[in-house]
Amino acid sequence: MKFIIDKLYLEHNLSEEELLELLNNLNDEDKNYLIEKAHETRMNTYGDKVFMRGLIEFTNYCKRNCKYCGIRAANKLADRYRLTQDEILEACSEGYKLGYRTFVLQGGEDDYFTDEKIVQIVKAIKNRYSDTAITLSIGEKSYDSYKRFYEAGADRYLLRHETASRELYEKLHPGMSFDNRIRCLFDLKAIGYQVGAGFMIGLPGQTNEDYVKDLVFLKRLEPHMVGIGPFIPHKDTPLGKEKGGTLEKTIIMLAIIRLLLPKVLLPATTALGSIDPIGREKGIKAGANVVMPNLSPTSVRKKYALYDGKICTGDEAAECRMCIEGRIKKAGFSVDMSRGDYKDWGKF
Ligand code: 5AD
Ligand code: FES
Repeated sequence: MKFIIDKLYLEHNLSEEELLELLNNLNDEDKNYLIEKAHETRMNTYGDKVFMRGLIEFTNYCKRNCKYCGIRAANKLADRYRLTQDEILEACSEGYKLGYRTFVLQGGEDDYFTDEKIVQIVKAIKNRYSDTAITLSIGEKSYDSYKRFYEAGADRYLLRHETASRELYEKLHPGMSFDNRIRCLFDLKAIGYQVGAGFMIGLPGQTNEDYVKDLVFLKRLEPHMVGIGPFIPHKDTPLGKEKGGTLEKTIIMLAIIRLLLPKVLLPATTALGSIDPIGREKGIKAGANVVMPNLSPTSVRKKYALYDGKICTGDEAAECRMCIEGRIKKAGFSVDMSRGDYKDWGKF
């Protein structure tokens, strides 16, 4: 197994058979070795830096019905909200004062926010805070819409592919098309965005063969960012009674992704912090180098409930900022408040 891990460390690639063997046969010693190599790789690229992104969850209205997600349209128990443009700018202002230079605008697929409105919001933020990066995470759109947002000043786009298994994708996303999801990601790259893909871990029925598909897909897409986290059941969804993903599997996948894509920006996600009190720290030690503390107004925090037990829903932006900084430093890493753009060193 060490041989396969060394190969992944040196060549940043493995065959499907090797990836499957790695996932099927890792013992504890191998796991530690994998994590060690992932850590070494991140130190060789971005060093001990952990980049901070301010997350603004600006609408929890959503027209989709993803079976795992707490803000799916069919969940009539979800308490819906939308932030106004002024409220979004207010969150940015607070974030800017706290030192954030990336704002991530995330929301459900909410037709209230037309392309015009998104363009206006992006322009307003860029106008006031010209030295910040804007990341959008608002789902599937046409090439033309993506292009308009980009021209308005959006720099990055997050759209997890959720799972690269077409069969599992179609089971989990009624009425949605796997091909369109993939089309979106390639369009975003072609337009010039720094693009984030990603998937969940521990979905009902998900197998190691499915994770191999995720890894092969990531290698093909070569995204700038990869967001992964455990699936966590939400009680008011069709998957509310299923088991969630584990810390261990998520850590293994983070380490493999760091080795597969050495230059990738890889968040230790809120979901990971929600299943284990030091989940994000463990993720950072396994190669993750981004955290996305919440900047949404506290009045709406609890309402952006994609899953049960989400952390940070009661904390002010300043508290999250301090809390996460303390955690990063205690884990032996340093906080980087710059825009934190993807960097291409070529040699990796
Ligand atoms: N558990 C974990 N992650 C979830 N997401 C949505 N619902 C859940 C859940 N129940 C993730 C999806 C989405 C991202 C914003 O949150 O991967 O892309
Ligand atoms: Fe939000 Fe710790 S990061 S309270």
